[in-house]
Amino acid sequence: DAIREFYENWSRDYDSDLLLAIGYVGPEIAAEALAKRVGKTALVLDAGCGTGLVGIELIKRNFDLTIDGIDLTPAMLEQSRSKGAYRKLNIADMCGPLFEIDDDVYDGAVCAGVFTNGHVGPDGIDELIRVVKPGAPVVLTVRDSAWEADGFKDKVEQLEESGKTRTVEISHSPYHTKEDVFCELVVLEVI
Ligand SMILES: C[S@@+](CC[C@H](N)C(=O)[O-])C[C@H]1O[C@@H](n2cnc3c(N)ncnc32)[C@H](O)[C@@H]1O
Repeated sequence: DAIREFYENWSRDYDSDLLLAIGYVGPEIAAEALAKRVGKTALVLDAGCGTGLVGIELIKRNFDLTIDGIDLTPAMLEQSRSKGAYRKLNIADMCGPLFEIDDDVYDGAVCAGVFTNGHVGPDGIDELIRVVKPGAPVVLTVRDSAWEADGFKDKVEQLEESGKTRTVEISHSPYHTKEDVFCELVVLEVI
């Protein structure tokens, strides 16, 4: 509830605050990593889509993608809706099962800015793997302060050890370019 309230209050100023003030590049790097790994007419999921910055970055790279978005916060989804990049936008809590999405639906998934301190924990990755087709990519940004401390590094290793994913890439990348904050850009292939 606290996270939802926080983003309800921030939804209108989020884009200008993040892009201009702190140089947030999560959407760009995540969209780039996904767009080059899916087909031209792929159906992709933007999990924790927020105001739709990832959708815009995906469409810039490939106008023919079909993009669905989910997020916890209705006011953020409204901002996404106004961007016009998404087919469907639904409320969902990534801390639990994504009941409304069947297995193996998407040709890829992306999640930027959500795997960070105090938001969604590493187990949120399980549902992204479930809804993506075998062989398809799941792209995540994980803020570096959460990567080891909150168990994301261990989770990614466990997923590979248990044969659920293949780790394609883990890159230490700029995240808030005006604040010297980094993230791990993670690309998994679902097995
Ligand atoms: C920093 S914003 C990132 C939004 C967008 N992906 C971007 O990169 O600009 C974090 C988003 O995660 C959403 N969020 C936080 N907890 C969530 C949860 N449990 N389930 C789904 N979305 C959640 C918030 O509502 C917010 O829109």
